[in-house]
Amino acid sequence: MKILVLSGSLRKASFNTRLGKAIAKRAPEGVQIDVATCHGIPLYDGDVEEAEGVPQAVVALRDQIKSVDALILLTPEYNGGMPGVFKNTLDWLTRPGSEINATFKNLPTGLCGATPGGLGTTLAQSGSLVVLRQLKLRLFSGHLRVSGAADALDTNGAISDKLAGMLDSWLTEFVEFARKP
Ligand code: FNR
Repeated sequence: MKILVLSGSLRKASFNTRLGKAIAKRAPEGVQIDVATCHGIPLYDGDVEEAEGVPQAVVALRDQIKSVDALILLTPEYNGGMPGVFKNTLDWLTRPGSEINATFKNLPTGLCGATPGGLGTTLAQSGSLVVLRQLKLRLFSGHLRVSGAADALDTNGAISDKLAGMLDSWLTEFVEFARKP
């Protein structure tokens, strides 16, 4: 089974991208997990789409999504919601509209997020559900919420024992969900 993790942060030291790398490292036996980010995706502009089509960076990311069996979305939380960078990427990925079915329909998808704060991106994840419903994904109900990210995920890739335990049980359940037809 192949899984793609998409981090919604552009920051070099992003806790969410670190979380994605930690998830990839803990891939269960027989599962390959790769990490992608929103780097290179321009701001959505309908005029650009009409004149030039969908940008190459979007096509490349979409091809990566189409090549996997499941997707994990990592959303940071900005002002209680999904950051514009992440929403913008999802918006491009749904263009043209036929790509909603072609790229996302029934794709097993997990939603996670990390924040240095105390609520583990609860608000951003809840708000994201409205957007994700439009994509017709098959969404895993077990949301992974990482709070206190500065302590849980360090710059060298080490993670706390508590987070390691959370990731292992979440991943086991997510993979089981994704394998179900
Ligand atoms: C934040 N941050 C934040 N955190 C949170 O838990 N709830 C929130 O509503 C917000 N709001 C917010 C707004 C803006 C504009 C910024 C820049 C930041 C803090 C945020 O969680 C923190 O910057 C994380 O480090 C962002 O994720 P990455 O980039 O580390 O993955």
